[in-house]
Amino acid sequence: MTTQFDIIVIGGGPGGYVHAIKAAQLGKKVAVVETRPSLGGTCLNVGCIPSKALLAASHEFHKTGHDFEKFGIKISGAKVDLTKMMAFKQEVVDANTKGVDFLFKKNKIERYTGFGSIKSPGVVTVTSDKGTSQDITGKYIVIATGSASIDIPNVTVDEKQIVSSTGALVLDKIPGSMVVIGGGVIGLEMASVWSRLGSKVTIVEYLDRILPGMDNDVSKEMLKIMTKQGMNFKLSTKVTGAKADKKGVALTLEPAAGGTVENMSADIVLVAIGRKAYTDGLGLEKVGVKCDERGRILVDETFETNVEGIYAIGDVIPGPMLAHKAEDEGFVLAEMLAGQTGHIDYNLVPGVVYTAPEAANIGKTEEQLKKEGVAIKIGKFPYSANGRARSMNAVDGFVKIIADAKTDKVLGAYIVGAEAGTLIHEVAVLMEFGGSSEDLARTCHAHPTLNEVVKEAALATFALPIHM
Ligand code: FAD
Ligand code: NAI
Repeated sequence: MTTQFDIIVIGGGPGGYVHAIKAAQLGKKVAVVETRPSLGGTCLNVGCIPSKALLAASHEFHKTGHDFEKFGIKISGAKVDLTKMMAFKQEVVDANTKGVDFLFKKNKIERYTGFGSIKSPGVVTVTSDKGTSQDITGKYIVIATGSASIDIPNVTVDEKQIVSSTGALVLDKIPGSMVVIGGGVIGLEMASVWSRLGSKVTIVEYLDRILPGMDNDVSKEMLKIMTKQGMNFKLSTKVTGAKADKKGVALTLEPAAGGTVENMSADIVLVAIGRKAYTDGLGLEKVGVKCDERGRILVDETFETNVEGIYAIGDVIPGPMLAHKAEDEGFVLAEMLAGQTGHIDYNLVPGVVYTAPEAANIGKTEEQLKKEGVAIKIGKFPYSANGRARSMNAVDGFVKIIADAKTDKVLGAYIVGAEAGTLIHEVAVLMEFGGSSEDLARTCHAHPTLNEVVKEAALATFALPIHM
């Protein structure tokens, strides 16, 4: 006899697994179909978690040669044992994915290892890697199949010399030189890892700025800081081809607007020009699920597709491709399917780039607000004027708070600097409650903390900051 589930989730990443756990907590009978042998999706296996483990490890190494001297600590002969560093990364990944296994067992979620495709509304065919298949049935189907990296014409990813982020996380030796195509989030994070470990890194970006999704002040500051750290940038430039052979990779580049061809070579090339929704083999056309022109599944405000009973969440639908966005969607969809209400404010999804220093954002950028004709006021305060930042020798960066000129409501916040990814959350909570920059500036902040940079930036939107 086949089991009838309340919900069948296809994809066990942050969207799918959080949805499954929350739905099970709300009393639903849930099945999750996942092709990977381990749960956690891109994020836990080949994304957020392994990249952060390598960022943390490489940062510790980099500090020995660069930051410790200033504190009066002399360390000579620090060396990288890449095999051990990679083993640490894998240990972190395994602990996280096993944690999800444990939560599935605890919440009695049925797990199917195999490829899921939708046979008809309510029926999913699971095909194992041995080719055997079975149908499972459920009242609702939730698609959470995530995303895959985008390719460039004439640059074939072999995951050895020309790699995507997945290959860049498992290199078996430190490349002498590396070209990173794309100055976005993956580009800067992976460039930081390998540059800190000793690679000569060049980042080729099509646009005239890096981190195009961020406020322009953040892009400029990050370009300055990353350049100071030894990374080389070629902006307004496109890669027109890359060929790998025994000697390395030969690349051809051109100005983005066209012009003289330039040749370059590198041991490793990383392609990081964005990701696209992954829906291959799901059978969407067969059941009539509609996608937009970029292949993302279209959903309404309840995450339902145009086909009744079929839902989608995470990277596979429009919106920022971020783990916490996928998780929140999984969570609120579970509430909705259990007859409760759920809500996400997409304007308040924070973003963090885990470089050193970090860059973080929430809300709208100065450019967006000006384009929308909103009268704004801006407060900015540098880390260099903060006592705690000085005592940590972390003086690079700033906090920028953007508030409505009439109501003082905070509309956006941008931080470049130490712990930016943590600090942004005090503004996130304030914005969730519709707070003003005066609310933020008049909140007593402990001294000495980096949070005081946030307080002073808020103060600077309507009065003079104290320490500048
Ligand atoms: P995914 O995590 O992609 O999970 C989808 C799962 O579905 C996969 O496991 C896949 O195997 C499975 N699947 C696909 N099709 C089928 C099928 N037909 N049948 C069965 N299973 C299927 N985001 C952050 O917020 N912070 C970060 O620091 C961060 N770092 C990143 C670093 C890198 C290198 C990368 C690549 C991404 C990073 N991201 C980060 C983005 C983050 O990983 C994604 O936004 C997040 O994983 C999306 O979750 P998801 O559940 O929608 O999809
Ligand atoms: P991205 O969209 O952040 O950056 C891609 C960059 O490549 C952009 O700057 C773009 O202008 C540039 N580009 C596009 N085509 C190009 C070309 N032909 N030549 C040169 N440059 C080109 O995408 P990225 O870095 O690949 O990351 C993918 C997704 O993963 C992002 O949406 C991001 O949200 C997520 N992610 C999040 C992280 C985090 O939250 N810390 C870390 C890593 C990834």
